[in-house]
Amino acid sequence: MIPSDPFQLWSAWFKEAQATEQTPLVGALATSNAQGYPSVRFMHFHAIDDQSFVFHTDMSSPKSADLTQNPQAAVTWWWASVGKHIRVEGPVSLVSQEKADALFQELPRRLQIMMTIFAQSSELPLDTDVAKLMNIEIEKYGDSLMQRPNNCGGYRIHPERMEFFHVYETEVQKIVNNRFLYCKKNEAWQLTRLAP
Ligand SMILES: Cc1cc2nc3c(=O)[nH]c(=O)nc-3n(C[C@H](O)[C@H](O)[C@H](O)COP(=O)(O)O)c2cc1C
Repeated sequence: MIPSDPFQLWSAWFKEAQATEQTPLVGALATSNAQGYPSVRFMHFHAIDDQSFVFHTDMSSPKSADLTQNPQAAVTWWWASVGKHIRVEGPVSLVSQEKADALFQELPRRLQIMMTIFAQSSELPLDTDVAKLMNIEIEKYGDSLMQRPNNCGGYRIHPERMEFFHVYETEVQKIVNNRFLYCKKNEAWQLTRLAP
């Protein structure tokens, strides 16, 4: 039975993937700029929060520039071990300052340091020893609580379309493709089946 709430289905599929996938929260995030030029990269999502998909990032990064120019995004997860593929699309909003603080504190120390000392995707001289720079800062900060740098923020994707695609094999049918699309219309989700 397919639930009428796509977040419920996302959570059920995610729970299943968690058992066998190493990084089930890593999805490919697509953005585009004002000219429509597309760009995609893998990102760590902080699961579902308030009916939205949350990620942290550097607010001065190219993806943040894209999202300022065109506040829409798409994300896709492929969990090969369970044959499940999910696509989510919708407008984005910035997380609150409190949420950005919480996201920063959730990060492993190495990433906190990385966000503190580098402007993500900025150009560095070819001979920059990134590992050395990181180690100096790791020594410097030790275990002390780090303040979120101003450039560290986050976004929420508020889905308007969520597609679920399950590919599996049975003895009788060999390959089965089950593809469902949830579209948000007037605050309600409409569910349809899609051709594979
Ligand atoms: C597995 C994995 C997870 C990542 N998670 C994040 C993340 O949560 N936030 C982030 O800003 N970059 C993350 N990155 C780095 C991005 O893929 C990307 O290189 C970076 O955000 C710069 O993207 P941009 O130049 O398009 O802004 C991750 C990379 C990998 C390989």
